[in-house]
Amino acid sequence: MSDFNSLSRRDFVATAGGAVLGAAIAMNPSSAAAQTRRRYAIVGTGDRASGMWGRPIAQEYSDVVEFVGLCDVNPKRVEAGKQLMGVTCPTFTSFDEMCEKAKPSLLMVTTVDAFHSEYIVKALNRGIDVMTEKPMVINHTQCQAVLDAEKKNNRKIVVTFNYRYAPKHRTVKEILMSGEIGRIVSVDFSWYLDVIHGADYFRRWHRLKNRSGSLWVHKATHHFDLMNWWLGADPVEVTANAGLQVYGKPGPFRAANCRSCSYKSQCRFHYDITRNATYMKLYVGCEDVDGYYRDGCVFREDVDIYDTMSALVKYSNGVTMTYDLNAFMPFEGYRVAFNGEKGRLEVRDHERQPWKVETADATEIYLTKSFGERVKVPVREEQGGHGGGDTRLRDLIFRKADAPEHMRLPDSRAGAMSCLTGIAARTSVEQKQAVRIAELVRL
Ligand SMILES: NC(=O)c1ccc[n+]([C@@H]2O[C@H](COP(=O)([O-])OP(=O)(O)OC[C@H]3O[C@@H](n4cnc5c(N)ncnc54)[C@H](O)[C@@H]3O)[C@@H](O)[C@H]2O)c1
Repeated sequence: MSDFNSLSRRDFVATAGGAVLGAAIAMNPSSAAAQTRRRYAIVGTGDRASGMWGRPIAQEYSDVVEFVGLCDVNPKRVEAGKQLMGVTCPTFTSFDEMCEKAKPSLLMVTTVDAFHSEYIVKALNRGIDVMTEKPMVINHTQCQAVLDAEKKNNRKIVVTFNYRYAPKHRTVKEILMSGEIGRIVSVDFSWYLDVIHGADYFRRWHRLKNRSGSLWVHKATHHFDLMNWWLGADPVEVTANAGLQVYGKPGPFRAANCRSCSYKSQCRFHYDITRNATYMKLYVGCEDVDGYYRDGCVFREDVDIYDTMSALVKYSNGVTMTYDLNAFMPFEGYRVAFNGEKGRLEVRDHERQPWKVETADATEIYLTKSFGERVKVPVREEQGGHGGGDTRLRDLIFRKADAPEHMRLPDSRAGAMSCLTGIAARTSVEQKQAVRIAELVRL
């Protein structure tokens, strides 16, 4: 029996704000199962696989993890990924062949979003434990297939929502759990992607709904997961609006990609990929195989996702959230405010902006009690990527990690509920009507 599978169905928690109880237990190295190294494989060997789930695992977890296989549809990229990760295991372009020859016991899914569900289901059917990058799925049919395969095989998957593990987000969760602002009634949430990071989605496969599910799913799944977890509630109904205002067709001129562009000197979005040695290896060096340009033009006519999005989300605990996502802002960060019966909790996060923000103010959290005072709540400082969140998540997955209940690994329900909020929003934009989550899948 697999490690993840040691979790009984009884432990499946009631809301998407919950977590897989068994996964952390399963990775306890003192247990018999963990004394042998996990036979670890990755499908989709691009940037995320190399930088988050490849190299750091090979360097820091080799006592508990053995790389047995890497797979990608692009034969050159799988070799480039292997080199960047610094591992020596065999590589494959066929997933089935990898499973048969390498016999992994744990799979990390880091392909283009549209293909996550295919590999999750195949792995579950083969009895392999699965971790997947977000978004777990990009449409409700894929969501149903993943949930059904998990149930049929009596297994558990983990969705690697790293945002939960950033100290600032954990601080917000802990304030809300403390009850300081009482029952939460409504939430205002605005996420700002800037002309650097936001634009980057429009250069890549993310610009196509049939690859990323749109930013409603690809990006907002992080935000919707945070909200489900912060509130300890499920989304029930979504009404949304969206448009494409700056990128794609509205752009002033276009080319296939930045290297071939004749508007280089005029274009504020011009991106010189030749200055990034890793990307030259991982993408430019492999583009003759699949025709994929990592420096695609942000104004290409085929962009069919939105750059401006607004939604109204109703939750199972009666909370209403207004949510905005904008991908061409002059600064990067977010604002979120929780309106409670006894006060208001406000967060302003500064990721990048054309003015100076002191490190201590990068995330400002203010708690204001009704009839009381406003206090600034400090975010505890921790070392490492995403404020130590990345390491904490990896430790939780690959080692015995001491985590309180609310910090345990996110499960398929969390993966589903966060994606379904975005899928419902996208559907609402297309159908011009409110969409109920319960109409999308059978949980
Ligand atoms: N949690 C986070 O903060 C975070 C950050 C970045 C990326 N991600 C996620 O990681 C995943 C990978 O993102 P990335 O930035 O590495 O993208 P990428 O384009 O660099 O890598 C995707 C890889 O998938 C491969 N691929 C495409 N179709 C495939 C198929 N059918 N079968 C097998 N391989 C296939 C591509 O060749 C490529 O190597 C995405 O799902 C993305 O959402 C998560």
